[in-house]
This record gives sequence, structure tokens and C-alpha cells, in this order.
Amino acid sequence: RRSWAEPWKIKMVEPLRVTTREERERALAEAGYNTFLLRSEDVYIDLLTDSGTNAMSDRQWAAIMLGDEAYAGSRNFYRLEATIQQYYGYRYVVPTHQGRGAEHLISRAAIRPGQYVPGNMYFTTTRLHQELAGGIFVDVIIDEAHDPQSLHPFKGNVDLDKLEALIRREGAQNIAYVSLAGTVNMAGGQPVSMANVRAVRSLCDRYGVRIFLDATRMIENAFFIQEREEGYANRSIAEILKEFCSYTDGAWMSAKKDALVNIGGWLAVNDAELFDELRNLVVVYEGLHTYGGLAGRDMEAMAVGIEESVQDDYIRARIGQVRYLGELLTDWDIPIVQPVGGHAIFLDARRFYPHIPQREFPAQTLAAELYLDSGIRSMERGIASAGRDPKTGDHYYPKLELTRLTIPRRVYTQAHMDVVAEAVKAVYDARAQTRGLRMVYEPKYLRFFQARFERL
Ligand code: F0G
Repeated sequence: RRSWAEPWKIKMVEPLRVTTREERERALAEAGYNTFLLRSEDVYIDLLTDSGTNAMSDRQWAAIMLGDEAYAGSRNFYRLEATIQQYYGYRYVVPTHQGRGAEHLISRAAIRPGQYVPGNMYFTTTRLHQELAGGIFVDVIIDEAHDPQSLHPFKGNVDLDKLEALIRREGAQNIAYVSLAGTVNMAGGQPVSMANVRAVRSLCDRYGVRIFLDATRMIENAFFIQEREEGYANRSIAEILKEFCSYTDGAWMSAKKDALVNIGGWLAVNDAELFDELRNLVVVYEGLHTYGGLAGRDMEAMAVGIEESVQDDYIRARIGQVRYLGELLTDWDIPIVQPVGGHAIFLDARRFYPHIPQREFPAQTLAAELYLDSGIRSMERGIASAGRDPKTGDHYYPKLELTRLTIPRRVYTQAHMDVVAEAVKAVYDARAQTRGLRMVYEPKYLRFFQARFERL
């Protein structure tokens, strides 16, 4: 196979600052060993997240100039609405300021207190909004998803037996909806197959249960279906996306990921009554239903971003870059989640630091060490992110204890990926001397964002 390259070239650049080890020691101690509390100025290569960190195209920047900043009825809203209807296929659209704004609204509108919300692994903000609405989240992902070494091609799949057992045990009327995510973030960016969503649909139809999709990274999911699933090699990303969405009753999206913008989100459903309620709620929490907390220009940039995101050559280059980094690390026998997913490389902190017990935050430790070594910022996705069980008050102890190297879209070059791989290797080579962390400050909600740690 001949090499691929990005289907774009660079028009504008942003200088990066390289710091000394002493500067990084100071910055990290001030940040309580939490990479979320570092100043971006003190970071060299920022792989904290792929959220809102995308580079927009010249077309998107041009779209920014077309902002219609009317309070009501902005023309940018109607363009965004039409774009979502065209590519995702849902009937009714509600804009929100970002993904969790949409999660808040759908959770309030579609969950009655005490109802169960089965999902293919939890996501932090998603589960919190479900719990705040009185729902009880139940993980129904296949077992392989919890095993970083399983090579299952669709580790995001729902385990149909787990789902059906829950519905039978609790009764369909006690299931709010199935919360289905495309490329499951916490599992390592692992996709759901078309066969699986189709099967979930027919199971849910038998019991009268709705399915709502977290479409945040559905474009990346569509790429894996095209690549791996029989019958889809010659279908376009846009066709695959639309078919997948057609098996669900609605979706929400953090547009800060796949839609190639820096801010934005939306919620879309097919049911007119539910839409009516969502459109009413958005006015309370986000803004009028034709802007949902966004400027007109942001909605315009999002519409253009959606059109760019479904281009086959774009998504091939995007996932190709993530894979390139994964292959370098695999060649050096560094433990990562396999197969490499859509948006990030997940270092397996359990195997990286077998001598650090989970309650001493191995993945948080790894993120701290990587920053100290080279100014690269990553993120913990393990016990700190998992938080506490609201019933028992104890930590959740997730099977996966991971450190995420998240690749922003269209931002870094292949040489940056080489530097990242070498830094991970340096930290890996020094692993025997590394000690864990103790949490000294713990916020009540989504603690990983603001928690503080000390070295043990
Ligand atoms: N759903 C998924 C799958 C996400 O990854 C995120 C955000 C959200 C919903 C919430 O959207 O941030 O726009 O409010 N994930 C970011 C991350 C924060 O770094 O993975 P938001």
C-alpha cells in the first residue's frame, strides 16, 4: 500500500513553547499533579483531549464571518438544522452550547427517577446527568471492552444478553432508554458494528424501549464499519453514518469532536412530543431554541464542519495519524489498548506500573510523569475519572486504568507523533522508580477535572 497523507495543507501556525524540567516540576506541583490544572502555556504538545481543540478549515473561518447574530431565528440555525437532518437523518434539532448541555436536557426529559439507563460503558458527563435526573446507569457493553488486550474488532458492542436480562428483570417500563455511544470513549475509542446496532434495535422493538445515541464520535465509528464490517467497504462514510443513526430514536453530540469546531453541540429526535419538551427545556438552561447558547457564527462553522467531517479522505487521514502513533508504541512493546481506536492512544497504566495499586492512581501518575519528561499533556481515564458510587460512597474501581493521549484533529504533524512516542518510551524505561499519588482534594462532581494530588 502507498502512503497516505493529510488531504489539506497548513495555512496558519501557532508557535509552541518548550519548557525546562525545572519549570515543569514547578508547574505540575502548582497544578496538584492534575494535568487539567496546568496552564496551556506551560504545555508543549497538548494531548489532553480532542474536544474543542480541532483546527478549523479556511471554509469554516469564512463561515464565521457569516454569523447572523439575531437573538431569534438566526439563518445559521436553519442551515445547521438542515445539515444535521441531511447527514444524521433525525427530524427535529435542538442546538446546545456543548455535549453536556444536550445530555442534561435529554436526561431530564427522558428519565423518570428510579428508571434504569443501560449503556455501552459509562462516560463521565453522560452518566452524571443520567444520575442527576434520578436514573441508574447499568453497563451492558461486551466483556471484551474491559480487556485492553482483546483484539475484538467492535469492542464497543452492546452485549444483547446483558441488555435483555436487565429489561426482563426490571420490566421495560423501568428502562428509560438505551444510551448507545459510537466509538466508546472510555473503552479506548472502540466502535459499535452495524450488525450490533441493528440487533439492539430489534431487541428494543420487541420490548418497546427507545435508543438514544451519543453521536459525539460517530464519524470515527463509521470509518471502522467501512474498514472492518462485511458489506460496507464500498459504502461512503456519509451513507454508513445515516444508516447507523436510522436504527436509533435520536442522538446528542458534542460537536467539539467530530464536527471539527471549537465549541457547540446538539440534540436531535424523531418524536414530536419529546422534541416539544426539549425545545422548551433548552430555553431554561441554554438559550432560545434557535441558538441554544451558541453564537450564530458558531452554528455556521459547525454546519461546514459536519460537511467536512464525512469526507472519506479526511477521516482516513485522521485515524491514520492515531494509528501511526499506536504502531510506534506497539513496536517498542509499550502496553496500550488494542486495537487502536478512533481518537486516542490509551496507555495501559496497570501494565505500565504493575507495582502501583489502583488506589494510588497509576494512570494519573503516568500522566504526571509524561508531562515532567517532555511537556506533553495527557489525561487520566481510570479510577479518578470513574468517581464514586452514589449509593456506597466508595470509589468505583474500573477494570480499565488508562492514560489517554488524545489527538486533536488536523493540528499536529507526524514529527509531533514521533516526539510523543519517544517521550512515552523514556517514561516507560524509568517506570521501576516511579511512585504513585495520593488525592488531597476531591470535588463532589466529576472530580478528575479539579482534584489535587501529592506524590507518595
Ligand atoms: N459524550 C462523549 C462520548 C464525550 O467524549 C464527551 C466529552 C461528552 C459526551 C460531553 O461533551 O465536553 O461537549 O460537554 N468528552 C471530552 C473528552 C470532555 O475529553 O473526552 P462536552
